Amino acid sequence: MKVLLTFGTRPEAIKMAPVIRELIRRKINFKVCVTAQHREMLDQVLDFFSIQPDFDLNLMVPDQNLNSLSAQIFKEFAPVLNMEKPDLVIVQGDTTTAFCVAMAAFNAGVKVAHIEAGLRTYNLTSPYPEEGNRQLLSRIANFHFAPTAHAQQNLLKEGVTKEDVYVTGNTSIDALEYAKSILKSGYRNSEINDLEKRVDPGLNLILVTAHRRENFQHGLLELCKSLNYLGNRKDVQILFPVHPNPKVQKIIFENIDSRANIVLLKPLNFPALMWLMEKSKFIISDSGGVQEEAPSFNKIVIVTREVTERIEGLEKGFSILVGTSASRIIEESEQILNGSIPDPSGPNPYGGGNAAARITDVLLRSFQKV
Ligand code: UD1
Ligand code: UDP
Repeated sequence: MKVLLTFGTRPEAIKMAPVIRELIRRKINFKVCVTAQHREMLDQVLDFFSIQPDFDLNLMVPDQNLNSLSAQIFKEFAPVLNMEKPDLVIVQGDTTTAFCVAMAAFNAGVKVAHIEAGLRTYNLTSPYPEEGNRQLLSRIANFHFAPTAHAQQNLLKEGVTKEDVYVTGNTSIDALEYAKSILKSGYRNSEINDLEKRVDPGLNLILVTAHRRENFQHGLLELCKSLNYLGNRKDVQILFPVHPNPKVQKIIFENIDSRANIVLLKPLNFPALMWLMEKSKFIISDSGGVQEEAPSFNKIVIVTREVTERIEGLEKGFSILVGTSASRIIEESEQILNGSIPDPSGPNPYGGGNAAARITDVLLRSFQKV
């Protein structure tokens, strides 16, 4: 079996890293191609997990748009496919990279394995464009690795062949468990050392992230309003690593009040984010990955989106879907700060930390059969 793993953004890299480690452990023949749809944020992850790509398409341009990025991926990835002639291309998630790479493999008659398959809102405008990418990917993939039983059900309802769907848990939890374990055994880096100096242990730390396209403008402005309001409280400290997308940066930097207890940071490397999540009282975020990770630290995520495909966290009390109005964000935050909502507990519904091993087992079994 000859495998080509391809990814381009921070979350894909974090979730692909455990699979790469597992393929190395089992001595499987594989190569890694990165589109570099993200640059610095991708490099932070490659660095932490010591991943050296065999091919780096280096495609990110500032303030890129979806069509030109897609065109570049098709153009630059096709020669890699032609040269490598893999038996299988593995993609992860719902990004422009994941969809275009899968489509290019499909066009070349190469099998596609899709990790994190079956997540759905059935609303093509939210998350945009990710919901469309996911649905399209499920039409052309050969292996569908669903993180949860709910995701599996979505795929089966859509007519995906039962034998091609495998419930594995999310590889994000494998990555998180690794980061947690090394942090526990004393791992530190300069970002964590810096955070250690900034975080005030006497205050309730609120960790914030935001980047969704459908939240540009209105959603982000409401988020700023809510953070400025919450920042009036003497008992909170807000830490916000700001996504480098210029459309996000402009709104956040222009609309967040300058206050000692609201700290805007550069994107953090993965273990630093894990360190901060553990220290937080709760989280405000529109991120998919953050919704999956927070349960492992028994933290609540106030989800600043109208809909979410991560419904397991809602069901188990790990996340609260508030939409994007400042008043709802404030209301739920105050409830948590005032102790009306207790910290959630119980196993993480998104995975147990062994997803990469399960995925590799399936692939080995399938290719040995051929
Ligand atoms: C992308 C994904 C989204 C995923 C998110 C994770 C698509 C359509 N969007 O959104 O699904 O949830 O990544 O973060 O695939 N930039 C940098 N440095 C970086 C990364 C981004 O400067 O390391 C800036 C660049 O100006 C870039 C812009 O951000 O052009 C947008 O990046 P892009 O990948 O197109 O969109 P994201 O909003 O990051
Ligand atoms: N993350 C990180 N540093 C940060 C913010 C997030 O390492 O400053 C990690 C986070 O722990 C999660 C992933 O990035 O694993 C989520 O990425 P993002 O929110 O950009 O994308 P999404 O998951 O929404 O697609």
